[in-house]
Amino acid sequence: FISNYETFSDQNPHPDSTIQKQKWFSDEFLCKFKGFWIWSPYLEPTKKVVEDFKPLPSDVILASFPKTGTTWLKALLYSIIFRSSKEKPLLFNHPHELIPSLETKLYLEESNGKNLEFTDHKVRILGTHIPYQIIGDILNSSDCKIVYVTRNPKDSLASLWHFVQKAKKFDEDPWTVETAVDQFCNGVVPFGPYYDHVLPYREESWKRPWKIFFVTFEELKEDGKKHVKRLAEFLGCPFEGENKEEQVEEIVKNCSFEILSNHEINKSSEMPECFPLPYNSFFRNGQVGDYNNYLKPEMIHQIDAITRQKFHASGFVY
Ligand code: A3P
Repeated sequence: FISNYETFSDQNPHPDSTIQKQKWFSDEFLCKFKGFWIWSPYLEPTKKVVEDFKPLPSDVILASFPKTGTTWLKALLYSIIFRSSKEKPLLFNHPHELIPSLETKLYLEESNGKNLEFTDHKVRILGTHIPYQIIGDILNSSDCKIVYVTRNPKDSLASLWHFVQKAKKFDEDPWTVETAVDQFCNGVVPFGPYYDHVLPYREESWKRPWKIFFVTFEELKEDGKKHVKRLAEFLGCPFEGENKEEQVEEIVKNCSFEILSNHEINKSSEMPECFPLPYNSFFRNGQVGDYNNYLKPEMIHQIDAITRQKFHASGFVY
């Protein structure tokens, strides 16, 4: 089994030479799996999830493309589902440790997903970046619920670019915004292509709204209370009683960027177990439209043209 964070490169090739590879940045590679590009350390865990993972009917699966608001949704889901608990673990635990992701934690470890019994709670909340085309049948094999968050492609890309800069591997081989945009437009991005990732979850949520809840980063920014209420209804635990408005407000506030990013654990520059970048790399500024500060007008036009071509025919407008 793959050791934690083993990456494959020209110097350390993947044992299966038939796997299609593309350089991502520095000496990091992406590997093609069932039509999607997977960062090399997550290739074997992703395959293991596909082979082994069996969702329980009570599971809540948070699916997302990287850098679209996963950390935020983890905090929100935890706060909504376990709101009656007196303990406040979000104060001391990073959302990614509280809610592990299948391929980036549970199956990355030696235990091969055997530690899925990580929680005393009746409901398991699990994250995944695996596309619907790969994990859809597995998730449909049980009555588990799926929550999908997405974000406009330009902010997702700008966020990814900053995130990767934290890897500090760029002394001789910088990963420029130009390269990042080019790769994004060609779909060569972890769990990409982005558009192929988002659309099936979007379309499934239209067909089966009781099974898949779809929300965007921008919608949450605009009216967090509205979507937290919708989410609780979808999960079968609607807010009730006299103080329901206060409860919703409290959750929105406690999961806001300003509050969440200020907890010591989320400010820490130490590495979490589940990821080779520091805890604080999951919190930058959480803004809508920040891409304007990094992408040139021609890059914006290029991405907008692809977005129109890929999304608009289906009625999904970004
Ligand atoms: P930026 O880099 O644009 O700031 P993910 O969790 O999917 O990796 O996405 C990370 C992005 O979500 C980062 O975006 C991060 O700052 C932002 N983020 C994290 N927590 C947030 C919160 N509570 N509210 C809003 N944005 C948040």
